[in-house]
Amino acid sequence: MSSNLHVAIVGATGAVGVELMKTLTKRKFPVGKLTLLASARSAGKTMEFQGEKIAVQELREDSFAGVDVALFSAGASISKKFAPFAVQAGAVVVDNSSAYRADESVPLVIPEINGDDIRKNRGIIANPNCTTAITLMGLWPLHKAFGVKRVIAASYQAVSGTGAQAIEELRKQVHEITSEREITRKVYPHQIAFNVLPHVDSFLESGYTKEEMKMQNEGRRIMHLPDFRASVTCVRVPVYRAHSVAVNAEFEQPVSVEQAREAISKAPGIKLVDNPAKNEYPLPLNVAEKDDCEIGRIRVDCALDNGLAFWIAGDQLLKGAALNAVQIAELI
Ligand code: A2P
Repeated sequence: MSSNLHVAIVGATGAVGVELMKTLTKRKFPVGKLTLLASARSAGKTMEFQGEKIAVQELREDSFAGVDVALFSAGASISKKFAPFAVQAGAVVVDNSSAYRADESVPLVIPEINGDDIRKNRGIIANPNCTTAITLMGLWPLHKAFGVKRVIAASYQAVSGTGAQAIEELRKQVHEITSEREITRKVYPHQIAFNVLPHVDSFLESGYTKEEMKMQNEGRRIMHLPDFRASVTCVRVPVYRAHSVAVNAEFEQPVSVEQAREAISKAPGIKLVDNPAKNEYPLPLNVAEKDDCEIGRIRVDCALDNGLAFWIAGDQLLKGAALNAVQIAELI
């Protein structure tokens, strides 16, 4: 790989954009030039990268001249509109939005699981949904040991998954409530402070939300398991950073907790934190800003055949977004 790649971040001012910059530095990605792109609102604002102040530019169709790698994280409509211009200009796009995840011609990749799929790319590689990515980091090693059939899961998703404005909404509401003022809300349909919302993304005719169906749809593509089934309830919780997921998984083969622990301990990117006697289990506060996801509370499921129940937590801005995107860029 050349040591002077021109990298562009689309959505540089957002919650994931900022993490992308930190991750490029942390992983010593060979950045020769960094172009920061966002909406016209942010044009001219400066952001610091490796000791250098870089001015944010307005995203335009001609923003990608000379760009080698474009990391998109500004929402699906922006990706749909602008990723083709980046590809036309000769860049490889790693897209963090849902725009291309269902497109069979676009690889959907978690490097630890299906890194080889990157070879089939035609200029765009999709980064999976954050809750799906975190869940699969634990499910994949268990699948290799026992062969997964289906999962039932409930997520506990942090507000930073919605973006920078949602982080501010939670902070503001906590402040308003503790100072006995009326709460204001803009981002979520209900108060998020001291509440939980069984509503992430928009509702489908089936009654599930789009977010809930990502586990099955994206899980099938990433694990190459067309018959994989997942019934998920996605819940937004008043946590700033890191998602957690309670999973009940049914397998083809008989399971044991010992074998499950062994499979996890050999897998990259996932750490076993499972010592209930000492109150040790994965917590969003503990995995925040960490690259590895954590899994614990592993037990034989009492209601499923060949089932395991477990709890998994991961920083969705990292493994669920920026880290996975930079890992993909490294493979390119
Ligand atoms: P901006 O800060 O200028 O609005 P988050 O997910 O944290 O809400 O961040 C969304 C990111 O997407 C931000 O960097 C935001 O830039 C960017 N963005 C939103 N709308 C546009 C747009 N129309 N063109 C380019 N970037 C956009």
